[in-house]
Amino acid sequence: MTTLSAPPTMPAYTEEDHRVWATLYARQMPHAAERACSLFLAGFPRLQLDPLRLPDPAVVSERLFALSGWTLGDAQNAYLGPTEWFEHIAERRFPVTNYIRRMDELEFTPLPDLFHEYFGHLAFFTDRHFGDIAQAFGPLYLAANERQQLEIARLWWFTTEFGLIREGGELKAFGAGLLSSPGELRKAFAPDTPRIPFDIRAAAEMPSAVYEMHNTYFIIDSLDHLYSIICDYARMEGLPQPVLG
Ligand SMILES: [Fe+2]
Repeated sequence: MTTLSAPPTMPAYTEEDHRVWATLYARQMPHAAERACSLFLAGFPRLQLDPLRLPDPAVVSERLFALSGWTLGDAQNAYLGPTEWFEHIAERRFPVTNYIRRMDELEFTPLPDLFHEYFGHLAFFTDRHFGDIAQAFGPLYLAANERQQLEIARLWWFTTEFGLIREGGELKAFGAGLLSSPGELRKAFAPDTPRIPFDIRAAAEMPSAVYEMHNTYFIIDSLDHLYSIICDYARMEGLPQPVLG
């Protein structure tokens, strides 16, 4: 556990690796700028990512810590077990990989790579209030039984990974899996894609698609709605009420 609490080291990336990052960044930024929620748009510049060069995890971790008290942990280039993953979250640490996809996987990578994590997720973690709500998922998950843990992971998945949010009468992308993937972002906003108001039981029972795109996307009304989702879930399930900060 202790060795995983530090960010991963920055490997000796090749120039091709940097070109993958630069290509993904340049291609996705206009789409994200058009579709992203305000939280992403406000947070992204604060990360000070270099559009042309892969980020150094230690530098970004320090920057995040100064902004919101979050740091980066080591995701060990694979899916962590969900319990270990939520242990990181409970300690205000976001696990990241130092793996970058190959040039022939630009459209979709089933293994989350660092582009997904840095471009899609980290802007949100510059915001202290979002960070407080995200952290509250940790103790909730760790206090839950096996069925509840699966359901809490899905509440996280269908909001912070693939959720939409209402803003000023429009729908915007909230989930990092949308913000970092041109294909999934397109799909989430396509005219014939089902988009439905967030429903705790429906999300808790919906299998999450890891290796393919989703068929239905859930809409939250605000950041505080996300907090109310985990509070309501805790109440429904007799779990300790999530506490912020
Ligand atoms: Fe993710």
